[in-house]
Amino acid sequence: MDGNGRWAQRRGLKRTEGHAAGEEALFDTVEGALDLGIDWLTVYAFSTENWKRPADEVRYLMGFNESILVRRRDELNDRGVRMRFIGRRDWRVPKRLLKHMDKSVELTQHNKTMTLTIAFNYGGRAEIIDAVQAMMRDGVKADKVTEKVLHRYLYDPEMPDPDLMVRTSGEFRISNYLLWELAYSELVFTDVLWPDFRREHLFDAVREYQARDRRYGGLEQE
Ligand code: FPP
Repeated sequence: MDGNGRWAQRRGLKRTEGHAAGEEALFDTVEGALDLGIDWLTVYAFSTENWKRPADEVRYLMGFNESILVRRRDELNDRGVRMRFIGRRDWRVPKRLLKHMDKSVELTQHNKTMTLTIAFNYGGRAEIIDAVQAMMRDGVKADKVTEKVLHRYLYDPEMPDPDLMVRTSGEFRISNYLLWELAYSELVFTDVLWPDFRREHLFDAVREYQARDRRYGGLEQE
């Protein structure tokens, strides 16, 4: 969900007002994903690198994420959305936020319409390191380490590899997002800044995805 800061600065607003405007973009995108029958939608809400931002902005983002969960989880629950989180639950994440994350997961755990995964204090490299550490703690022997086994140690082993990754705001980078999982995903880049993103932009990205030819390293299908 990139581009909130630039969206705000272009309007002479504070960066945090860009994050606030990103809420509508998120919920419109969720509606669009539900319209399309998408089973899994994952959003990058806070990265392991975002702690480097000014303390005020970090504090704002912690409070903002908590407030979104508190204000909107019932609505997501009513829409049949199951919420999950991926990322490190380290000491820097406020206890209250962790509590609301757990409550959101618990409340929505039996929903079947769509899974909304929120990547929070998430980093793709951190996820791989955490998986390797957990495997070693479990005593998995070196020659038993396969892609399938490592996959079981990712933050959410049930999450399928994404078919499509959309990056907003005109940046052409992965920025440490789902490094393992994106191996064969189709990537779509758009100049739209996150606060301006609406379901129509998701539909455009899906249309672009549908025109792609996925070969997974093999040859074109007849
Ligand atoms: C990146 O824009 C955006 C973020 C770091 C936060 C986005 C978070 C939300 C919209 C709330 C999500 C909340 C939940 C609970 C899912 P940026 O600040 O990097 O923008 P810039 O690149 O223009 O500076």
